[in-house]
Amino acid sequence: MSDRYLAFANSTSGRRLVSALGLPAPLLLERWMAGRSRPVDGALLIGGEGSLASAMLPFANKLTDALFAAREGQFDLPRWTAEHGPKLKALVFDASGLTRFEQLIELRDFFQPAFKGLDKCPRVVILGRAPESLKDPIAASVQRSLEGFSRSLGKEIRRGGNVQLIYVGKGGETQLEGALRFFLSPKSAYVSGQVLRLNACSEQVKDWTRPLAGKKALVTGASRGIGAAIAETLARDGAEVVLLDVPPAKDALDALAARLGGSVLALDICASDAAAQLVEALADGIDIVVHNAGITRDKTLAKMSDDFWNSVINVNLNAPQVLTQALLDAGKLHDNGRVVLIASISGIAGNMGQTNYAVSKAGVIGLAQAWAPALAKRGISINAVAPGFIETQMTAAIPLTIREAGRRMNSMGQGGLPQDVAEAVAWFAQPGSGAATAQVLRVCGQSLLGA
Ligand SMILES: NC(=O)c1ccc[n+]([C@@H]2O[C@H](COP(=O)([O-])OP(=O)(O)OC[C@H]3O[C@@H](n4cnc5c(N)ncnc54)[C@H](O)[C@@H]3O)[C@@H](O)[C@H]2O)c1
Repeated sequence: MSDRYLAFANSTSGRRLVSALGLPAPLLLERWMAGRSRPVDGALLIGGEGSLASAMLPFANKLTDALFAAREGQFDLPRWTAEHGPKLKALVFDASGLTRFEQLIELRDFFQPAFKGLDKCPRVVILGRAPESLKDPIAASVQRSLEGFSRSLGKEIRRGGNVQLIYVGKGGETQLEGALRFFLSPKSAYVSGQVLRLNACSEQVKDWTRPLAGKKALVTGASRGIGAAIAETLARDGAEVVLLDVPPAKDALDALAARLGGSVLALDICASDAAAQLVEALADGIDIVVHNAGITRDKTLAKMSDDFWNSVINVNLNAPQVLTQALLDAGKLHDNGRVVLIASISGIAGNMGQTNYAVSKAGVIGLAQAWAPALAKRGISINAVAPGFIETQMTAAIPLTIREAGRRMNSMGQGGLPQDVAEAVAWFAQPGSGAATAQVLRVCGQSLLGA
């Protein structure tokens, strides 16, 4: 599904017309391209006074070779000013040292000049400490207030930029590199206004060019749309993929497997013997499980049939639970495994005509949160990725006016691409991303729905 307005607004003649008429002008977002190695293609400005900025210094020069500090002499880096510095591609502000209300103005003092020197598609990450980890109520309130700041900044940044807040817990510093490689690079193109918590994780990525090397990954609903993009991205990152979809999609699965080098499992995940077939097919076990297969059957509750209700609950919620439980019971999910459930912002905000779908998607968020503590004992993480409006066959079926509203009602003024969801899944799938569990990452361009 193509977004004709986005293409038009970014063409030479369209840009002029859109500007003359004062229409919104969404920018073509930069995305990660094959062969790229540096996460940040340009200048990275580091500021703030806490201990987290220092924790990133040992690897900061792997992110980019153009590092700057906001203050003279800070971190032994050259000082950046809006007048003399290069345009900024990325900013990291360590707010973990802020403990009093009067210190909050440091946010303004850092970002106000920096926002005068932003490059196209800039990335901002604010680092803090989880409020619930702090005993001092004022310090906890200050850290909590960062959420309001970062989300507002996400709405002000424009230029295809994004802003995230990462609360770093005890030991989480060791996994900052993986998180920043995702959030400061075009891999997070359609993620904004998100709040993530990072904690300790004993696993580490060994090779950043192939972070999933040696891992085997199952992707359900892999024949097309978001699932195919997830399979492609996991394979790009070095994983051996097992591609699952319904039997009628076998040809498409075979074609994808021929390209990615994976294996195929043509299986309806709601079949009565689906769990047994899956366990048998994964004789050597599995490291990464992505529950992506999903359907919509939209009707208002007044007109909702048994079939519409049950089919959505069965595919989107019951099957992921049954299959995960079967893999656990059969000992097929390896220690330090990674489970990612594809939810939806409908499951967070609710949506007219989608009570069944929203139930199922809120339910998978519930599964991630409920399972996480027990799985953590084996180093397994389980998270949900909640896409907003993504350009696929699923959203192409939405009536035009509702489709246009869904596409534009976010900070980026456009829909995301399957690749955007896939990059988030690939980050959660990394060995070091066990630092994040029971979390929900929205890939929605900071949609107004449920924000
Ligand atoms: N496209 C969006 O904007 C969007 C937004 C939020 C969430 N999502 C979620 O992302 C996931 C992928 O969506 P998409 O847009 O790529 O949809 P899609 O319809 O293009 O692909 C879904 C895939 O799941 C497979 N599938 C459905 N039922 C199955 C079953 N019983 N057994 C095995 N496979 C089955 C389908 O055959 C299909 O290949 C879904 O869970 C969807 O709910 C999508």
